Amino acid sequence: MTGTSIQYHNGQIHVPNDPVIPFIEGDGIGVDVTPAMQKVLDGAVTRAYGGLRKLHWRELYAGQKAVVEFGEGVYLPASTLEAIRHYHVAIKGPLETPVGGGIRSLNVTLRQDLDLYVCLRPVRYFPGTPSPLKEPEKVDMVIFRENAEDIYAGIEWAAGTPEAAKVIAFLQQEMGVKQIRFPASSAIGIKPVSQEGSARLIRRAIQYALQHRLPSVTLVHKGNIMKYTEGGFRDWGYALAESEFGERIFTWRQRAALRKEKGREAAIAAEREALAAGKLLVKDVIADNFLQQILLRPEDYSVVATLNLNGDYISDALAAEVGGIGMAPGANLSDTHAIFEATHGTAPDIAGLGKANPSSLILSGAMLLEHLGWQEAADLVIQSLAAAIAAGQVTEDLASLQGRSGLSTAEFTAAILQQMGG
Ligand code: NAI
Repeated sequence: MTGTSIQYHNGQIHVPNDPVIPFIEGDGIGVDVTPAMQKVLDGAVTRAYGGLRKLHWRELYAGQKAVVEFGEGVYLPASTLEAIRHYHVAIKGPLETPVGGGIRSLNVTLRQDLDLYVCLRPVRYFPGTPSPLKEPEKVDMVIFRENAEDIYAGIEWAAGTPEAAKVIAFLQQEMGVKQIRFPASSAIGIKPVSQEGSARLIRRAIQYALQHRLPSVTLVHKGNIMKYTEGGFRDWGYALAESEFGERIFTWRQRAALRKEKGREAAIAAEREALAAGKLLVKDVIADNFLQQILLRPEDYSVVATLNLNGDYISDALAAEVGGIGMAPGANLSDTHAIFEATHGTAPDIAGLGKANPSSLILSGAMLLEHLGWQEAADLVIQSLAAAIAAGQVTEDLASLQGRSGLSTAEFTAAILQQMGG
């Protein structure tokens, strides 16, 4: 097989000029959007580097295609996981969640097995996309959603089961808990949030903001109610920012301490000075307020670090502000592995009809190119996709919102390549 594997040495990525890029086509509209993404990425790499660099695609099986290839019930063959471990990156189309007891969602399995603790979702507006906002161009954020903890750990017991009764009895008898309103009919869930898990996520968010010279990192939490879990996330985040990034950042916790010590004016002046000196501002906001602020003052937010459940709501709300899930790219990352993915589902209603919007996967592909350090190619993908949309060349999902008919997936892909000059 041609192509060379990406490697990591001492935590640093080493990318050859001919990297093997594993891809999972995906179920449903995977057959429409995955080839579109590959064409656009190949076009951008050729245009940016001539013959010097080339992506070597290698198909991995997951979902329905894996069942066809490996047999009944095999949705995620061990060879697919091994290959992603070996090659360090992959890009995937949407995967249908198999229906039936005992089968974990394939996306969750991939995240857990590779400990992909960051769910990265950049959200930006492409002029020409229909949006419910008056000034959607003010939305330009990058969400770092914690991917491994929180209520998503799946530790819960159904109401009426002996397990729920046992946990409730323990809480009441041994922990002195009196607040369970209806103990006999309560289901019980556990929300683990750790210092380590919060720190590694927030560290990545701050590093990203500093690398990209962005103005702020906002910790979004519900620490007013969940003081030790979500409040812990905020407090550990501030502590980490101050201890690991020192003079490069200024935090609202430092501002609050100054205010207490020297008064309001001094605190405001210190913040102004820090920002004028180009320091990164680390601040926090309570989750419900944040959902208001992204509608009222989106320009105040840049990089956002948040817990798993908040991140789920926030990602979809922000995606809707800038054109919906057909447009929103994403990646799941660990320190050494990255899976780039379409954030929408398999869209069974339009699967295989050549109508799907491939933007989400194409923009995820641009994130992959950036991850490789191939910034010129990444920029070309984003610029040409933006130019096509600005010229009114959009797929049916967006065109229909403007009361007109749209391009097919293949026509939209051709339009992007044409904008690239190829
Ligand atoms: P969905 O995202 O597949 O579809 C919701 C609506 O959006 C449908 O009307 C669909 O036609 C439209 N849509 C989605 N992507 C589109 C695109 N690229 N272009 C044009 N229109 C698009 O969500 P749904 O119906 O809830 O889920 C279907 C299946 O997908 C389920 O099995 C679900 O578990 C799975 N899923 C997988 C995800 C993943 O692999 N990351 C994420 C979300 C759902």
